Amino acid sequence: MIMFKLICIGCKSEYSLNEIIYNCRKCNDLLEVQIDLEEVKDLINRRDLSLKPLSVWKYSELIPIFDKNRIVTINEGGTKLHKCSNLAEELGIKKLYVKNEGENPTGSFKDRGMTVGVTKAREFDSKKVACASTGNTAASLSAYAAKAGLKSIILIPHGAVAIGKLAQSIIYGAKVIAIKGNFDKALSIIIEASKSLGLYLLNSINPFRIEGQKTAAFEVCEQLDWHAPDRLIIPVGNAANIAAYWKGFKEFYELGFIENLPTMIGIQACGASPIVQAIKEKRDFIKPVDNPNTVATAIRIGNPASWKKAINAIKESKGTAESVTDEEILSAQRLLARKEGLFVEPASASSIAGLKKLIELGSIDKDEEIVCVATGHGLKDPDSAIKFYQEPIVIEPNFEILKEVIKG
Ligand code: F0G
Repeated sequence: MIMFKLICIGCKSEYSLNEIIYNCRKCNDLLEVQIDLEEVKDLINRRDLSLKPLSVWKYSELIPIFDKNRIVTINEGGTKLHKCSNLAEELGIKKLYVKNEGENPTGSFKDRGMTVGVTKAREFDSKKVACASTGNTAASLSAYAAKAGLKSIILIPHGAVAIGKLAQSIIYGAKVIAIKGNFDKALSIIIEASKSLGLYLLNSINPFRIEGQKTAAFEVCEQLDWHAPDRLIIPVGNAANIAAYWKGFKEFYELGFIENLPTMIGIQACGASPIVQAIKEKRDFIKPVDNPNTVATAIRIGNPASWKKAINAIKESKGTAESVTDEEILSAQRLLARKEGLFVEPASASSIAGLKKLIELGSIDKDEEIVCVATGHGLKDPDSAIKFYQEPIVIEPNFEILKEVIKG
């Protein structure tokens, strides 16, 4: 029996996995699942893992679930690590990979956390699950709740969620409520609502979400033939995913499955970059941004809930954080599509934009092995692709005209 417990990242108070709790009762800080890795060492090894196809649940010994028969899954994980030689050449580096999380069932990395989170909801016998979201968490939660036969309640910032994501939540049958306010406000209200109305909260302050999301780091290590990259560059919004990857890398390192750890580089949009500002000003705390704004709506977040975990990950890994403009994000999105055939949503392209900026600043050596995380599929936000690039050329249905247009 593997030992799991919940630990407060601030005062280190311990809690059992059997209670529904999101914040420390003593100091209100975030909680994190801690695993007795010595026990896990007896149960899994690299050779056995190598024989199984990639997926979230191949790492089930490292995921705090009690009853494997009740797992809620839509076959998440196992996304490709694309070797991007064309893009690497364009940017002047040698080894570049993109972990394409848009290949998950609902088109984003959120599915890794949601398969675990909704399984926990089932273990707790919750009937209703809820989240606030910029769109992807909502799409994912709605799908997993549907699969589990649970009701899902989604709070989104009105007018600020990409159309594809909204369509997903609707078709999966969620109750979608738009507030006249931003994501940060939506999150604070849904936290309150979940406490008083008994909804099981599946935002990433729920520590079980991280336990699923960390499997992306396990996969990257396996896909690189059992080592971590020199750097992992990742978009940061509410700030849990960067912490999830770091936790995954550390667990594989402590298990002796890899011999190196990457430096973690968090990328935010200029208009929503409280963590970048904290890192640059060498602060241990963030100053929330009041009216966050960026074309990358997924990461339009001014007061990220998991900022402390993100700053810890960046500091422990001797990494850094950088911000990129909307123009840089859109140009990186286009570059990735046109050099590698990968269409990712604007927030996802911020990791590529960040890489480009860091290379231009001379902060990256051309021999380093780099993994950029692309967090969500481009088709989630088709409007921005059309709006910011090019409308189709409209012509009369006539061969001569067509010929001229093709030549031109
Ligand atoms: N990329 C995409 C496509 C996202 O949807 C998100 C977060 C992030 C990056 C940032 O990840 O929050 O863990 O730092 N989307 C959340 C949502 C906020 O509601 O879908 P993070």
